[in-house]
Formats: sequence, C-alpha cells, structure tokens
Amino acid sequence: MNMRDEPDFEESCEESLSGPFEDSESKPHHLELRAGGALLAIEASAGMRPVLIYAGPDISGITGEELALLATRQHAPGTPSIPLRGSLLNEIGTGISGPSGITGHREGQDWALDLRVVSTKMVNGKSIHVRCEDKKARIGTNHVFEIDASTGMLRSSTSVDNIGDAPFQIDWCAALCLPFDQRLERFLSFTGRWAQEFQIEEVALFNGSIVRENKSGRTSHDVFPGGILACRDTTEQSGLALGFHLAWSGNHKLRVDRHSDGRGFLQLGELLFPGELRLEAGERYQTPQLLSVWSQNGTNGIAQAFHRFFNDTVADPRTRNKPRPVHFNTWEAVYFDHDEDTLIELAKSAASVGAERFVLDDGWFGGRRNDATGLGDWWVSEDVFPNGLHQLVKTVRELGMEFGLWFEPEMVNPDSDLYRTHPDWVLGADSVEIVPFRGQLTLDLTKKEVVTYLFEKISKLVNEYGIDYIKWDMNRDTHHPGSEGKGAMHRQTMAVYGLLDRLREKHPALEIESCSSGGGRADYRILERTDRIWTSDNNDARERQIIQRGAAHFFPLRILGSHVGPRRCHITGRELPMAFRVGSAVFGSMGMELDLRDESEEDLAILKAGIALYKKHRHLIHEGSYLALPSAKGTNLVGCVARDKQEAFFSYAKLETDLATLPQRIHFAGLDPAKDYQLRMIWPETNPSISSPSIVDQADLQGKGVRISGAALVDFGVQPPLTFPDTCLFYHLRAFE
Ligand code: GLA
Repeated sequence: MNMRDEPDFEESCEESLSGPFEDSESKPHHLELRAGGALLAIEASAGMRPVLIYAGPDISGITGEELALLATRQHAPGTPSIPLRGSLLNEIGTGISGPSGITGHREGQDWALDLRVVSTKMVNGKSIHVRCEDKKARIGTNHVFEIDASTGMLRSSTSVDNIGDAPFQIDWCAALCLPFDQRLERFLSFTGRWAQEFQIEEVALFNGSIVRENKSGRTSHDVFPGGILACRDTTEQSGLALGFHLAWSGNHKLRVDRHSDGRGFLQLGELLFPGELRLEAGERYQTPQLLSVWSQNGTNGIAQAFHRFFNDTVADPRTRNKPRPVHFNTWEAVYFDHDEDTLIELAKSAASVGAERFVLDDGWFGGRRNDATGLGDWWVSEDVFPNGLHQLVKTVRELGMEFGLWFEPEMVNPDSDLYRTHPDWVLGADSVEIVPFRGQLTLDLTKKEVVTYLFEKISKLVNEYGIDYIKWDMNRDTHHPGSEGKGAMHRQTMAVYGLLDRLREKHPALEIESCSSGGGRADYRILERTDRIWTSDNNDARERQIIQRGAAHFFPLRILGSHVGPRRCHITGRELPMAFRVGSAVFGSMGMELDLRDESEEDLAILKAGIALYKKHRHLIHEGSYLALPSAKGTNLVGCVARDKQEAFFSYAKLETDLATLPQRIHFAGLDPAKDYQLRMIWPETNPSISSPSIVDQADLQGKGVRISGAALVDFGVQPPLTFPDTCLFYHLRAFE
C-alpha cells in the first residue's frame, strides 16, 4: 500500500521537513504564528511533549512565554500530581483522560504512544513544523501548521511515520487535537439528508462528547465534516466563533469533547475500517487537512473567511476571474427520455432566456434508459443518438453556450457491458452481500486498470466533443469498501483524486462540478480539483433558501449550484411562482433545470429578466462580502456588500405567512454608516405589496428609489412590504460619491 499520497499542502512542506531542523534547546521553546488576525502558540521543547498553548483570535503584543504562563492550570485535588498539559494528539501516554488523537499498535504492542519533540522548524515565518518521536514505539509524527495571511485560516495536519521494523496498525489519527475556548458552549452542526443538505442542528452546552461518524464513502449528506462552535450570545453578526472543516471526501469522524476539568478539544480525521491502515516499515500516513478559523464577529466572520480563503487560495486561477455562467441542466426537463430534437429545442429555449452553458445530464450513454442500466458504458448511445452528439454540441455552440456532460465514473450497473466483462472490478467485503443502492455498485478504483479504463473513456469523449464541463456525480453510499480482502476507502478516495487530477492535467480547460446525489460530496479537498458543487437535488425554492444559507457557512456563493426548478417541484410537489423560483436561484451559481416547454410566455419573460439581473450583479454576489442576517421566522435575509462598500445587494425571502400583523423590519448590514445610499427594490418586477400604502410606493423603491444614510439603513432599517409567502425581494444599494 502506498501511504505516501499526501495533500498538496504537505507536499509543499516536504522540502523543509526533510531538510535539517533547527536544534531545539532544553529550555521551553515557544513558536508563534500570527497572520490574518489569528494567533497560534506552540511550546515545543526538545524531549518534551509539544503543547498547543493557544489557537484563536490574535491577542496583540502577547508572547508565547506569556501565553504559556497564563495557561498555567491550578492543581486540583484528586487529579495527577503534575499538571497534564496535553499534546498535539493527546496520545494515551500523556495521561489526558479524554479520547486520544492517535490510536494504534504493533500486534498489541506499542499502543501507549508518548510522542516527544525531536525538532522544530519555522518556515519563512509562515508555517511551523514539529517533528516528534516515540523512540521506544518507533513512531514519528510531523505536525504542520500554517495560517493564511488574508483570512487567518489555520491549516493543520499530521503525518505518521513507522520508523520501526514491524508493521504498525493505525486505528485513528486526527489532524490535530485542537483545544478550544471554554466559552464556546454551543455546537452548530451541519446535518441533513438527501435533498435536505446543510441543515443546522444546534447542541447547547454539554459535558462529554459529541461524535459524528460518516462511513458513507463520500463526504455525506448527513454528517458534514465541519461545524461551528459559538458562545452563548454569539449571533450571525457578533461574538466569538470557531469554524472548522476537514478537507476530505471519504469517511470521517468528528468529535467535540468537553472535559469535566473545563478543557475542550476538537478532533477531525479519517474514519478507518479495521485493519485498513497498516503502515509497513518506513511507510507514512498523512491525515487530511483541518481548516479552522476564528471570528469575533459572529458566524458571518467565519463564512467570510471561508469564502475568501476559497476564492484566493483554493479556486483554480482559470475560474477565479471568469464570471460563473448560467447553466441549463437537462435532468428535471427530460430525465432519461433523451432525443436529439427535444434536446435541441430545449437548448434553443435555454439560450433565448440567457443560458450560457448547456449540461446534458444522465441518460445519454450506453444502455442508460433508466437508473438500473448502463453505468460504466461510457460511450454515446447509438440507439438514442445514431449520429453521436455532434449535432447537439454544434447547436449548443452556435447558440453561444458551453457544452457540459454528466458522468458517474466511480459506479457501475450490474446490467452493463462493463460489469458483464469485469464483474471483479467492484468494491466489496468478502462474504458480505452488497447493500442494494440505486441499482449500482462502486468500482474498485484502487485497481490501476479500472482507473485507466475510466480515464481513457472520459478523455476520448472530452476530445471528440470538445467538452467544456463535466458534472461528476456519485450516487451511492459505499458500505463495505473492500479490495483484495482489505478495507479500502482511504485508497479509493485517493484514487478518485488521482483520476480527477489526471483528467485536469490532460484537459486544462475542462471545468468539473462535484455532485453526489446533490450535495453529498462538498468539501475543500474535492474543491482543489473541481469548480462547482451541486448543492442539492431539491429545487423547491422555499427549501433551497435554507439549504443555500446553511451551505454558505463554508462555501462561497460562486460555487454553490442553484437552479430554477419547474413550477411544481418534483421533490416536494409544491407549486411556486416563477418570480420566487428565479429570485431564489440568484444568490449562487445560477442555473435552470426545468422543461421550458411547460412554462408560459409570461413566466419565460420573468425567467429571462431574472437571469439578466443575475448577470448584471454576479460580480457583486460572487466577490462581495457575504452576510447572512438575523431573519424572523419564515424569512431569509442575506446580502453581499462590495469590499469598498460602494454597492450592496440584499435578498429578503418570505417563506411563510406572518404570525405578526406586519413583517419585521429589515436591518441592512455591512454598509458604511457615513455614506448615503440610493435604495431601490429591483425584484420582483412589479410591486409585490398586497396592501397599500407601503414603502414601495411611498419611497418609489421600484422607480428612482430613495437616498438614505448607511447608518439609518442599518440602525432603523426599512419595513418590507406585506406580501404573500413565496416572494423574494431584492434590494440594491449604491453609495453616493
Ligand atoms: C443525481 C444528481 C442529479 C442527477 C441524477 C442523474 O441524483 O444529484 O442532479 O444528475 O443523479 O441520475
């Protein structure tokens, strides 16, 4: 097993790790990193356990020594006679009573690890490397920390070296045991299910452990590898918060432990199956990277840091400055019922309302006429497209759109040529029946020949049709991913990354969307090699408002796919007006996914106007500072403010009828209190108010608008008009020079 597959971050550190380390001294040795408003202080003295003294918002002027002194813990009766200060992994040998960050053994030996600092290194003042070893157990660890200068995002990870002669079994290794501030009493977790992703579930003050485990073989719908810790009074806009995320697309475990002695630790790492990770002599295991960031300005500070970190550091330079195109996706328009004439007709209507990219979804290949057949047979179906996709692609291009194609590379249907030829190419645990799931099985990508097959098939199609975009789907949980008798989810996940990387290298212009039955594979590791997330299969605008609000805590709007669905939502059966459907798709990477032939002329005109509005303002939506504002029950208020505060765009969605006589006032945020703004309501196109007078006509909001100071818009706010539910209002604000 090659355990040397490492994330880019670790690779970039490799040079310095393998170089000579500074000699550590015998007196306490403190290392500090300060950047982007965050501070990290580590005590790493030779021969001692490394201690993470502080990680959090910067405290100006303080030194590592002072922090170490302030971190002194009083001796408590009935506890060990010496202070237990913990370690970067709180291993069993440290005596810390809570769960260890690393567990493993060598055939039942070497299980009580006690990792001591061997050397440290500060690289360019930007990252800290700590090398530890347990010389008796013959295990070494390398801990790397880096803080992003513009956002304060801390990136940390650990690699484990087997420096002994016999194999070492790793059962668990967190990226880090991250201590957190005692005042962070609330845990906001992100959970849900298919078509209900990114739902916030809050756990109030607790003692003990919250453990969330994902063994679905993908990032998952129900256990997002991340969350937010907040104080009792933290809001969207104020208070201390810690946001964290494990950049990993396979199985994971997240645990938040609050000990009775007041300490709290966070651990995230890969969830390993029994025996899955056996390090042979000389091998290394690299954990995924933990991203963590602190905000003194509530949860919006967390979201803004993640968005900026993505835009500046993770986003591919190719897409960073390219306006995110409007999609037309064929799935809910035709499902598996493909035929060239219909698709061409849809392409024409899509272009006429403003689509810029046409994505042909599931159903175009092999014998794929329903979801039980054809996966794996990656060639254009001759039955459906006797002349290939050429005519369709040509029309799409002539209409000025890019062409995208759906794939689900990691999967195979038993009813396929691929499976009939290679029934041994699937993952599975010996003697355990595979759990049925959408009639498909997971291919074993740890086998080189499988990856080669997929690479060649996809690459051929990309070349033949000049495909601009791939929607890369993955539609089943992989319950017992065995290969050659061993647990293989780690290797499978790395192989998926490898395949994507190979394709991107071969086709540098290709953009890729990460989809997994909607938002089941949304994480920062997949985003190092993909450009968009399909946030959810749920195109019900009312529910989508909440899903997008949840997802935006971690992901910027520019990558959150958000489509205008059909009048009667296919998942909830709810009927929604076009103006609301359109309005709800604008705060994201906008698209459409409906049969345009079913829409009235009037609704098509509304759709076209909404798309034009998105195009006009997408720079602001995608590059401004995102704000999710306190929203009264049954409403959703979010906004984007330009970095220079010259312009702002807010969306107020009313999802239910009011309990009160009138809706709560809207308090805008993020504006310059000293500037005057022209306030206008630019959506819907007609006055949505169901009674009069209202501020819409009194202040001519849909006409010239009104001049108001930033201070008044924030502190006094405006009364939104009384409207029916399923209404979405956009307010536009432009500052006077
Ligand atoms: C998944 C995706 C959908 C669609 C179908 C096709 O469910 O999330 O958007 O692509 O697969 O089978």
